[in-house]
Amino acid sequence: MTSTPTTFKIGGDLEVNRLGYGAMRLTGRPGNFGPYKDWEGGLKLLRRAADLGISFYDSARSYGPETADQIVGEGLEGRGVIIATKGGVDKPEPTRIVVDGSRDTLHRQIDQALVNLKRDQIDLFQLHRVDPETSIEESIAALAEAQEDGRIRHIGLSNVKRDHLDRALTVAPIASVQNRFNVSETSDSDFVDYTASKGIAFIPYGPLGADPMQQGAKLEPRQSLAWLLKRSPNIVVIAGTTSIAHLEENWSAWDLV
Ligand SMILES: NC(=O)c1ccc[n+]([C@@H]2O[C@H](COP(=O)([O-])OP(=O)(O)OC[C@H]3O[C@@H](n4cnc5c(N)ncnc54)[C@H](OP(=O)(O)O)[C@@H]3O)[C@@H](O)[C@H]2O)c1
Repeated sequence: MTSTPTTFKIGGDLEVNRLGYGAMRLTGRPGNFGPYKDWEGGLKLLRRAADLGISFYDSARSYGPETADQIVGEGLEGRGVIIATKGGVDKPEPTRIVVDGSRDTLHRQIDQALVNLKRDQIDLFQLHRVDPETSIEESIAALAEAQEDGRIRHIGLSNVKRDHLDRALTVAPIASVQNRFNVSETSDSDFVDYTASKGIAFIPYGPLGADPMQQGAKLEPRQSLAWLLKRSPNIVVIAGTTSIAHLEENWSAWDLV
């Protein structure tokens, strides 16, 4: 038996297995743009993930855009798993993103995510990036309104520094931070510990060192995942894959832990 906890309670109440799944790659190529070509295969992969015991899924409006949320919503309908998505970033073309964290945009994107995910409430809605034109306080206030009216349960941040988190925390409780972090990219090491001290989940993206726009893990998958799971009990990993064989291999990282 290992002393490493297998679960973490996001926001203090949503208990997830700490080895989750990232859905960015269930989109079109190039640029994670357009619907995933093998839609049926994607649905099968998501259902296999749920069968294995993976209970946390990460998506975003900008993946597709919207199509990753749609495939996740369809594939996991009725499975009782925890689904996170993101807003504040859109992708009109494969190589162009638009950052907009204004109140009206976030409210509209939340409504669309609810439809795409086939849910009455979004478990975790993350501000994908801080909008240079809108203060983080303003963006978080909009998400807090959606939390108050029940459309989202918890608020998360992505691509942020500690200062952003501290400012966001003056407006509303923050359940998670999602930044790039893996065994060979550790500049956020102190930040991982800071979030742990506050009971906030740290969700490392690129856990296998992959370039977001290119296919292929750069690190040894099971060892990298096991390292993250050991690194801190608040880390919830979201490995991305389009292959059921890789999914099963990644899940077996628990054996190494
Ligand atoms: N917040 C942000 O700004 C942000 C940015 C990037 C990503 N993310 C999130 O983080 C998640 C994970 O990041 P990521 O997908 O970029 O990178 P990753 O998890 O580090 O690596 C994914 C790549 O590794 C390959 N792979 C996975 N398991 C493998 C295995 N067992 N053996 C060999 N190759 C394997 C996959 O190819 P196959 O399909 O062939 O398995 C895929 O190309 C995303 O899905 C997304 O949810 C967030």
